Amino acid sequence: MINSVLYKIFRRDKNWDPVSLKYAEEYHQSHLNKELDSKYFKMLESAKFNYLNAKILDIGAGPGIYSVEFAKLGSILLWQDVSKSFYTIAKKKFKSKDYRVFFSLEHIEVCMKKQKDLDLIFSRLSFYYAKNDKEFFDDASKSLKINGYLLIDCNTYERFENSLSLFEKLQVFLYHKFQFKIGHPLPNHDMIDKLAKESGFIVINKEFNTKTNICILFQKIK
Ligand SMILES: C[S@@+](CC[C@H](N)C(=O)[O-])C[C@H]1O[C@@H](n2cnc3c(N)ncnc32)[C@H](O)[C@@H]1O
Repeated sequence: MINSVLYKIFRRDKNWDPVSLKYAEEYHQSHLNKELDSKYFKMLESAKFNYLNAKILDIGAGPGIYSVEFAKLGSILLWQDVSKSFYTIAKKKFKSKDYRVFFSLEHIEVCMKKQKDLDLIFSRLSFYYAKNDKEFFDDASKSLKINGYLLIDCNTYERFENSLSLFEKLQVFLYHKFQFKIGHPLPNHDMIDKLAKESGFIVINKEFNTKTNICILFQKIK
């Protein structure tokens, strides 16, 4: 309810950008110096995912660090983000004509509702920006092929437990206890599993480190 109101106010078509160009550039630079996280590729390899010609949607892709890797592996990539600052950076990464890439500078919900027959939806540190989690899983399910994959990586509250403000504690309480989402509190993992299951997904692989984050590979089975 509150998120639906916020969603009407903070709109991409009204030029809203949650990220300044300065922050986006700093984020990009900080990741250029880091190694890629191999766990995503390992998870997908263990599921025998075929990158060649696969249709992949990278949700909240930011500077496109992983988008570009998927494109290098021969996939058809749809970069999605609401931030024009990140769009400016990501566009430069895809200069090579060898990549097959499309851009969606829209909200998660708007982009997902237009997709179908995807092979993989990849969401690294971005799933919680969806305005409604149930809607997110329903949209994901509808836009994937049968046997398509949804890979979600997100941080957990354990990471920040000592530094939450009073308002953040209230957000977490309302969200985890009553599934009432205000803004973008980090998810409760039992809730993710339940919503995914209700939308026709099964868990294929899960890496859970309570101190840092959770990474789950789902497969759409119905
Ligand atoms: C922490 S960054 C993660 C970026 C990228 N996935 C990565 O792993 O480097 C979160 C991203 O979500 C995007 N974002 C925030 N709200 C969004 C929304 N409502 N719809 C789509 N993307 C959104 C931000 O612009 C940002 O690029």
